[in-house]
Amino acid sequence: MKNGYPYFMLKEIHEQPEALKNTILPRLNKGIPDLTDDGIPDEILKGCSRIQIVACGTAMHAGMAARAFLEPVLRLPAAVSIASEFRYETPLIDEHTLVLVISQSGETIDTLAAMRLARSCHAPTIAVVNVKGSTIARESDYVFYTHAGPEIAVASTKAYSVQLASLYLICCRMAYVRGVYDNIQAAEFVKALLESVPAMETVIRGHEMIREAVSPLIHSRDAFFIGRGLDYTFSLEGALKLKEISYIHAEAYAAGELKHGTIALISDQVPVIAIATQEHIFAKTISNVREVKARGAYVILLTKESAMVEDGLADLHIRIPEIADRFTVFPIAAVLQLIAYYASVGKGLNVDQPRNLAKSVTVE
Ligand code: M6R
Repeated sequence: MKNGYPYFMLKEIHEQPEALKNTILPRLNKGIPDLTDDGIPDEILKGCSRIQIVACGTAMHAGMAARAFLEPVLRLPAAVSIASEFRYETPLIDEHTLVLVISQSGETIDTLAAMRLARSCHAPTIAVVNVKGSTIARESDYVFYTHAGPEIAVASTKAYSVQLASLYLICCRMAYVRGVYDNIQAAEFVKALLESVPAMETVIRGHEMIREAVSPLIHSRDAFFIGRGLDYTFSLEGALKLKEISYIHAEAYAAGELKHGTIALISDQVPVIAIATQEHIFAKTISNVREVKARGAYVILLTKESAMVEDGLADLHIRIPEIADRFTVFPIAAVLQLIAYYASVGKGLNVDQPRNLAKSVTVE
């Protein structure tokens, strides 16, 4: 069942490029997303004046990344809420709010309750779900199925990637039907999205290199993941993965916010994984990396291939292939998943079944 892989997690990391293609390609019609077969009418995408995303855990991190690209493309206000918080709030949503509900299992109780609340406010819901026929899929107004195949490891990997691919497709279709993109712009968006698939493959092929990179992490009690903008949202997922399967305390931090207190925690005992793939804020993030380096941190820096940084800034510099900034999440996610995976393996832990966790959280 593991196809020769020692753990399901490593198998599922390797399955991501295929899962991405399975999710993206059937939705393309003349090179642009078409959600007709999903039963998602354009009117729903056209009519809303804001977007609300609800989800938990990794799915919520996919939602945070989605917010960061949906809002500037569509020029629509978009918010992300933790489902377990949202369900007890009095949200300002109505029939003009498109609610995107994200869940791999489709059974997470808080996400389900958040969706029920949204529906009771007459907000149309689109559930981005992996498991066919799950409760969230059945109760949502519309469903966009991700085609990741079964995900067995408790740590979510391929589900995250396909959730993001789905959200990019929804974003692109929305931009098209709302007149933000014409045919050519929508096709260019999809082309750039597809270029991220071989980029992710390249990273996964080089996974043994990441094994070597994480040896200093294994002996650490704490670690930080930093970045700005989209990179910050990726760092949230990187920190969650590391905590979940290696039991190393990890915190994701918006790089520019460190100096407002948290930098006091940085020392030579605290590795920092810094993500800097977004051109417009690259220099700003790098200057934050200099600040942590000056305090002795062991720095693992993740950038695109062409990034120029001074010698000595990073103890380890992992470069991902050159793709559009908007889509760097796919190769970056693979790096972050592999860092967590090899930290867990290095500590001799049960990668697939971390303590205190279940694959599907059906209790409050
Ligand atoms: O099935 P869901 O996507 O609704 O699950 C949500 C979270 O419980 C899940 O993503 C969790 O955070 C993962 N185990 C993290 O790897």
